[in-house]
Amino acid sequence: MINELIESYCELHTSKECELLYRLNRDTHIKMLNPRMISGQLQGKFLSLISKMLKPEKILEIGTFTGYSTLCLAEGLTANGELHTIEIDEEIETIIIKYFNLSEHKEKLHLHIGNALSIVPLLKKNWDLVFIDGEKTEYLQYYEMVLPWVKKGGYILVDNLLWHGKVIEKVEENDSDTHAILVFNDFVQNDIRVDNILLPVRDGLMLIEKL
Ligand SMILES: C[S@@+](CC[C@H](N)C(=O)[O-])C[C@H]1O[C@@H](n2cnc3c(N)ncnc32)[C@H](O)[C@@H]1O
Repeated sequence: MINELIESYCELHTSKECELLYRLNRDTHIKMLNPRMISGQLQGKFLSLISKMLKPEKILEIGTFTGYSTLCLAEGLTANGELHTIEIDEEIETIIIKYFNLSEHKEKLHLHIGNALSIVPLLKKNWDLVFIDGEKTEYLQYYEMVLPWVKKGGYILVDNLLWHGKVIEKVEENDSDTHAILVFNDFVQNDIRVDNILLPVRDGLMLIEKL
């Protein structure tokens, strides 16, 4: 949610996508109804570099969509690492599987089709890194569900927390997404269990460390 010209300038000064991510990005824009949900080059590179810095062994992602952010996050996994990603829309499964199979990290990727609210409690793993990018009205539930399973010193990244700038505008009473995001941002800000920073990357990305 930054000025479009600034965002373009940032993109021009951010490493380009690899061939596989470029093709997935293109395929997503051709085939999907709402392609803007994809992380894309700028945020994707951010996720990839964060993952490479942390070298996580276990990553959880809520909201796979076509798998672009999954492939970016996978770039930092350790040799024995695993990434579990959850997507509720079974119609996207074919495109996700197609690109996962083309990835050098395919053995480490575990796709779960279904509702994250039911699947997360079944996974019972200690996460080094979690990426929350599912249904906005469920963000607080995901957060409360995963936080006990995040290792001390582990991180949670949460997307879309500026919500196209709506967080600083007058909110319509029936705008449940914006209300949920405002509640989420305030909740984390006051949560003594974590340290957090809201970054104006694309639509607002919060980086949260579990203390
Ligand atoms: C913004 S998109 C994810 C984009 C993707 N992470 C990326 O960066 O390219 C959100 C996705 O979350 C999925 N979703 C919504 N609610 C969900 C839930 N309860 N469990 C699992 N996935 C969910 C949607 O179907 C959608 O594909």
